Amino acid sequence: MSRSEDLYQRALQVLPGGVSRNTVLRRPHPFYAVKGEGCWVTDIEGKRRLDCANNMCSLIHGHAHPAIVAAVGEQLQNGTAFTFATEVEVLYAEHMCRRSPSFEKIRFVNSGTEAVMSCLKAARAFTGRTKIAKIEGAYHGIYDYAEVSQTSNPHNWGDLRHPRSNPVTRGTSQGVLDDVVVIPFNDPETAVAILSKHPGELACVLVDPMPHRVGFIPATKEYIEALRRWTAEDGALLVFDEVITFRSEYEGAQSWYAEPPDLTALGKMIGGGLPVGALAGRADVMDVLNPLAEKVLFPHSGTFSANPLVMAAGRTAMDLYDREAVARLNALGDRARRQIAEAIVESGYPASVTGAGSIFRIHMTPQAPTTYREAYVDPDRAQRTKALLDHAFEHGVMLINTCSGALSTAMTEREIDTLAEVLLGGFRALKQLG
Ligand SMILES: Cc1ncc(COP(=O)(O)O)c(C=O)c1O
Repeated sequence: MSRSEDLYQRALQVLPGGVSRNTVLRRPHPFYAVKGEGCWVTDIEGKRRLDCANNMCSLIHGHAHPAIVAAVGEQLQNGTAFTFATEVEVLYAEHMCRRSPSFEKIRFVNSGTEAVMSCLKAARAFTGRTKIAKIEGAYHGIYDYAEVSQTSNPHNWGDLRHPRSNPVTRGTSQGVLDDVVVIPFNDPETAVAILSKHPGELACVLVDPMPHRVGFIPATKEYIEALRRWTAEDGALLVFDEVITFRSEYEGAQSWYAEPPDLTALGKMIGGGLPVGALAGRADVMDVLNPLAEKVLFPHSGTFSANPLVMAAGRTAMDLYDREAVARLNALGDRARRQIAEAIVESGYPASVTGAGSIFRIHMTPQAPTTYREAYVDPDRAQRTKALLDHAFEHGVMLINTCSGALSTAMTEREIDTLAEVLLGGFRALKQLG
């Protein structure tokens, strides 16, 4: 028995399914990391792989960046958590508020789930309305309202003109489902027609400008502008989930559009490799959290919020991720998508690639999808996706289980060439299987 098999047998005794998060499950067993260096990860069997998963898009500088290790090490010496505020959270908040024009105030939390949840609750507290709208198929973490219809499928998604609010978790209350209005992605007319059936009812419209589960397809300008117009006229807030996409531009993917959102949920890379989340946006909206107010509309706390270790790591990571670093990484992303598209053509395998900035996703369809329903992975596509992932993994490249990748600043053109070469071999192998 290998060390991984042995560990997994033990894990099965104490962890449901033998894992602490579903994303690391692999059959017949997960792999166990022992060391990460830059863009490389070594597993417990001693095998080294190029890491294009980067802990689900969260490591912008790869593993163990020396400056982040030093900043965390220094804080570690001085204590890890206090019933005090710390200087580093103020310095980091100043950096973030300078970074993106829509961030007038920010509050740090512990995960992307908590960031999205807090945005929705802040929008409710600000507007006094209960309902929210979200995009079919978009993943925003596991808060009840945010997860509605994330896993809708052809059997339950209903007519596109009024997509159904489907639960993800058994036991989700009907009240939650009734309070979530589901809209299609990148279809401004249909989305606005659906929203217009709920005038004055919605606290916010929650949008990820390039939702992973929908296919890592950037939202069009027309779509975002239509949502911005509708929310402004209706008095609802526009909330962006930039937990993944903030890496796409120095100010976040919101700079792709003419008008900024009212609130933004952040997470993943802004923790510099440690668990984090944040909500940021308009000062008057963020004021619902203000504990100095006569009546606090959204009392909010969290034992580890703005934890100094996380703040030290995050601040260092974001200082390093300056405009030049963003531009260099995005150029690597362009190169990766171009070379993957060339590998698809060269192999003759019917696949396509989407994404923007430092993100890509491979689809087992000859035409790149434009909507969740087109990007939906049926069992046949799932099998082919798994075959490509397995090929890449066996040949030393680790991708995200949707056949997506998130690059890190630790990479160079050489690693992108390796990625494309391995994928070319994968497409060829798939073609031979027929
Ligand atoms: C777009 C988006 N929002 C929110 C979340 C939830 O973040 P976390 O896993 O930190 O709770 C994720 C996680 O993958 C995400 O991709």
